[in-house]
Amino acid sequence: MCGIVGYIGPNNAQDILISGLSKLEYRGYDSAGIAVGDGACIATRKKAGKLANLTADLEHSPLPGTFGIGHTRWATHGPPNDTNSHPHATENGDIVLVHNGIIENYLELKEGLLERGHQFRSDTDSEVVAHLIEEAYVGNLEEAVRAALAKVRGAYALVVTHKDHREIVAARTVSPLVMGVGEGEMFLASDVPALLNYTRQMVFIQDGDMVILNDDGYRITDMQGHPVQREVETIDWDAEAAEKGGYDAYMQKEIFEQPQALSNTLLGRLHDDQGSVELDIELDPNSFDRIHIVACGTAYYAGMVGKYLLEQLARVPVELDVASEYRYREPVVTDRTLAIAVSQSGETIDTLEGMREAMRGGAQTLGIINAKGSSMTRELDHTLYVHAGPEIGVASTKAYTSMVSAFLLLALWLGQQRGTLSKEEVARLVHEARALPRLISEALSDDRLGRVREVAQKYHQARDYLFLGRGVNNPTAYEGALKLKEISYIHAEAYAAGEMKHGPIALIDEHLPVVVVATESRLLEKTISNVQEVRARGGRVILILSDGDTENVQHAEDVLYVPRCDEMISPIVNAVPMQLLAYYTAETLGKDVDKPRNLAKSVTVE
Ligand code: F6R
Repeated sequence: MCGIVGYIGPNNAQDILISGLSKLEYRGYDSAGIAVGDGACIATRKKAGKLANLTADLEHSPLPGTFGIGHTRWATHGPPNDTNSHPHATENGDIVLVHNGIIENYLELKEGLLERGHQFRSDTDSEVVAHLIEEAYVGNLEEAVRAALAKVRGAYALVVTHKDHREIVAARTVSPLVMGVGEGEMFLASDVPALLNYTRQMVFIQDGDMVILNDDGYRITDMQGHPVQREVETIDWDAEAAEKGGYDAYMQKEIFEQPQALSNTLLGRLHDDQGSVELDIELDPNSFDRIHIVACGTAYYAGMVGKYLLEQLARVPVELDVASEYRYREPVVTDRTLAIAVSQSGETIDTLEGMREAMRGGAQTLGIINAKGSSMTRELDHTLYVHAGPEIGVASTKAYTSMVSAFLLLALWLGQQRGTLSKEEVARLVHEARALPRLISEALSDDRLGRVREVAQKYHQARDYLFLGRGVNNPTAYEGALKLKEISYIHAEAYAAGEMKHGPIALIDEHLPVVVVATESRLLEKTISNVQEVRARGGRVILILSDGDTENVQHAEDVLYVPRCDEMISPIVNAVPMQLLAYYTAETLGKDVDKPRNLAKSVTVE
């Protein structure tokens, strides 16, 4: 995630930057830093840990000046320490920048820069950009940023300044950036709440835009330098709406954050050019011959997808357990077992105790975790962070799709390292997986949202729902049912589609909506046979179909289309209509989706 801010105007920059960062700490709190220019030089101050560490330091020795930039970090490349904190500067300190996103080709860019004599202070991908700008700089900062970004691949919201210019240059691809237009002063931030104390006139910077701010105002160009016009919008949100970024609920906001969350999970680890996966963990891929996955709730369903992926792609036998059962069932664990905990919070006590049970049996442990520094990350041998950013809505959404993506990474990596996948197959799936942020954005397009809302409204009075899926999308059905029941309180059951005829078929009548995941897959024909069984008994079938499937529409009362993609990545895309169906149903019923009754975000009791 990460949050960034910028300011230029007549006022004390430090106060404005810190105030902005305090509203962005939800985007990351691994470290914070600011750089302030006073005309002669740019002074930087940065500290690991929460923003309070930085503000305490600034109280003793403030940074005077009237323009500057700031950052609050959710670490991806390099541990969360002072050195890896932003802002990053060139060796002479002339050019200073903050960055939110991931520079995917940073390793190859860094190699080139090292050969040309640049010295690096941090482990971050972001510092590379400062050096590229330095190389391109011949007196014009805007041109230098443009030239540097032409070499960069990845996601970024970037804010740059130079000691010789009273100017701030920013650019955006994928990562969010908003500009505030004040009276004789200009602001930048990752999100609206950071600026609301200062202005309500805002411009939402678009992908591919560059912005140049100075005391006279601003200019926006494209990456080639052609002028671009963007509308100045007046924001009339109150403080609470602003925290939610204008969305009605955190859950809704987090559903829409998924393209960014998945970029964070995947992009730095999938290398399209080499067709390979690189993981930031020191796990020996040949040090185990069975895997135990242990988790609760939504994280358990992510683990269920993980089991399919690990067995199919890496050919490792996997056992999957809900944590509260695992810890008491005396599982057979050896020193050749890899026990994987899946957890958004990293604090769920059942999962943690399950891991302790596995450790007692001699297992090696790996966490697929979102929350930085949580108990599991401290106790387990390895952590594969999902980097979804803070999740506040009680019903998990972006953490789920990020966890499933992390399993995809792990399965591909193991398949690659253990030789169960050919080089070509890894390269093909890496290419497919890299499309996920775009596919999720497409799954969230306005017309699809409208369609899910219609379906939710049509069936909102149902007393029960049934969800069916097969293969790698069997867990999608379970997750869909869980989402619906926890926020709308409608009873929902999930079943493997092929298992339905062995019992739950008795439930089917003309009142029962049955959601069936029937996207492109080896098992599609079999799934459609199960759909016929529901239809024959009068059930009201809602089919999730891949774009372009016009043949199977005939079997459904309602259809929700999703972008077509490879079966192995489809559970991530297919989760989106499930989340939206639950969200719009709860909305129609007037439920508080962020605080569903009886539930807590982090369950630290047995
Ligand atoms: C459901 C949900 C819960 C959690 C479960 C585990 O939407 O969020 O089912 O998935 O309580 O929590 P973590 O992932 O923090 O271990």
